[in-house]
Amino acid sequence: MTRSGKMVRARFITFEGIEGVGKSTHLKFVAGWLRAHGIKLLVTREPGGTELADEIRKLLLTPRKRIVTPMAELLLMFAARASHVEQVIRPALDSGRWVLCDRFTDASYAYQGGGRHIPARDIAALERMVTRGLKPDLTLLLVAPVHVGMTRVRQRGRRDRFELEQRAFFERVRRTYLQRAKREVRRMRIIGAEASMGTVRRQVLRVLEERVAKWL
Ligand code: TMP
Repeated sequence: MTRSGKMVRARFITFEGIEGVGKSTHLKFVAGWLRAHGIKLLVTREPGGTELADEIRKLLLTPRKRIVTPMAELLLMFAARASHVEQVIRPALDSGRWVLCDRFTDASYAYQGGGRHIPARDIAALERMVTRGLKPDLTLLLVAPVHVGMTRVRQRGRRDRFELEQRAFFERVRRTYLQRAKREVRRMRIIGAEASMGTVRRQVLRVLEERVAKWL
């Protein structure tokens, strides 16, 4: 239900990009814009969003001396996602609440696929099992050069297991995100995140006006 009393279908919107591109800031802005239009929504993130998924998040983000195998990492991401989709995302959408999620399956293709070289068809097989056709209605892909993101991450202080990766890893992740965005132009909208906060916000607002306003 919007402010004008119209019934609207609950939508699923995700935010993607390499670390340090400002996803959470822009997610908050979109959440505020939707709330101002009378939309009830849930804000969540991956990996995480349920008690189990939050525990898996800790396992995945803790820096370790020994390598975590790419397949173990991928399966943990999807174990967290299974719990999140079944217990949080689907129930929210079914009850009419919109869902804004900081990262979703695109991140598995970008990080475990592009970053860790797992074939996309293996990720697609897990996606079919776990998300059962649940796809974001809209994905905002925030894009900045890798060195910009890495500088911002360094300024934040302590780094998690992914943030400790080398630049080449993030270049592969970024490239994979961009390739996906090229293939899915309707769903994925690229936002140039290197610009000033005001400029980035204007781009986000344009997407809201072009894509989201008509859903309200
Ligand atoms: P963040 O939410 O603070 O960005 O941290 C989550 C990290 O997990 C980030 O480095 C990206 C990574 N990740 C994957 O590698 N695959 C995934 O499927 C998801 C959701 C996140």
